[in-house]
Amino acid sequence: MTRHLLLYNIGQLVTVEPERMTAENPLGIIADGAIRIEDGEIAWLGASSEVKRADFPSHHWMDAKGRLVMPGLIDSHTHTIFAGDRADEFEMRLQGKTYLEIAQAGGGILKTVTATRQADKTTLHSLTRQRLQRMLNLGVTTVEVKSGYGLDFDSEIKCLEVLQELQPDSPVSIVPTYMGGHDIPPEYQGRTDAYVDLLCNEQIPVVAERKLAVFCDVFCEKGYFDVAQSRRILETARQHGLKLKIHAEEFCDLGGAKLAGELGAVSADHLLNISDEGIAALKAGRTVATLLPGTAFYLRIKDYAPARKLIAAGVPVALATDFNPGSCVIDNLQWIMALACLQMNMTPVDVIKAVTLHAAMALDLQHDRGSLAVGKRADIALFDVGGYNELLYRMGSNLLNLVFVGGQQFTRQDLVNSLA
Ligand code: NIG
Ligand code: FE
Repeated sequence: MTRHLLLYNIGQLVTVEPERMTAENPLGIIADGAIRIEDGEIAWLGASSEVKRADFPSHHWMDAKGRLVMPGLIDSHTHTIFAGDRADEFEMRLQGKTYLEIAQAGGGILKTVTATRQADKTTLHSLTRQRLQRMLNLGVTTVEVKSGYGLDFDSEIKCLEVLQELQPDSPVSIVPTYMGGHDIPPEYQGRTDAYVDLLCNEQIPVVAERKLAVFCDVFCEKGYFDVAQSRRILETARQHGLKLKIHAEEFCDLGGAKLAGELGAVSADHLLNISDEGIAALKAGRTVATLLPGTAFYLRIKDYAPARKLIAAGVPVALATDFNPGSCVIDNLQWIMALACLQMNMTPVDVIKAVTLHAAMALDLQHDRGSLAVGKRADIALFDVGGYNELLYRMGSNLLNLVFVGGQQFTRQDLVNSLA
């Protein structure tokens, strides 16, 4: 049961609601704000001075003590369901090996595939649940999770089923993505086209029919799936009613962004090596650019995605962790936000939009969440800072105070206990 709640004395109520956003107030901030939560939704929001206790005597009144309140953070690109670890690769990279060299030498995604195939559902359930709890503890209320460490029918279905089974008890909303096209499994080495046939003829139809995923994603990259193969996977997925995402131009400019724009993909992700043509295609396709600076940081790649160029071109930019066991083990979206300021020159305003409204757009959920407005889900984060600028300035520790998910309140202590 969620209580009716009135949160008042909010220093900055950052709504990120397009209707409130102006040139002078780009995040639609209400100063000294208040917000009413009823039945898991936002019932009203405005200035604290506009609400009288006498009008809402049975609501629970909570004093935000001048703190920052904003939409719950949305992590729109993660690979959270996997078993095992790749700690050995960390050392290899410190010795100078690149991500692609390690993959070619038998490490990389396929190492995690072996561990994930061996893991039973109970193990995957418990590992994933703990990871999602950790994210919630940072103020993240919606997480997209990709399959893609199974790469055979039973193991892909197993992972997607675990995600489906986690949802009823998970405070975090899970958006499942099917990513059979994450790598070529050992049994199909050298036969990528045959593997693509298998995905198109046997996996995608079942995943879609059983509603095990909302999105289909593919790793469009040299040594993985080329543009023609990626197109085949995504077009088949679209025919079966799945929405589209693509890992594009992470290590080289293969043309995945152009494909995304052409197919009207909901998002194109990574984009470190995107061309001007690719940027124009995203703009034309109304495709969100999801940038993952944690990956560049973790792999020590010097050239980050051209965030400023994408923003200048009018492409909506989202930020996500890319949390996975190989190319970015950082699960902390607050840290990714700080990194985006430092390494990609994104402003605090760009960054706040990128993990709320634009991240919701990257999941096609903007009608329901990603901003604070009457009728939207009460997914709300309260941080121990006075304003959004300070949230970025004070990088490095978890600044969350408490978080509401569908109106249900979780404090950090609750979350620590539930990890035990
Ligand atoms: O987004 N690029 C492909 N997939 C992941 C890496 C996964 C892994 O190394 O396990 C990524 O970077
Ligand atoms: Fe990824």
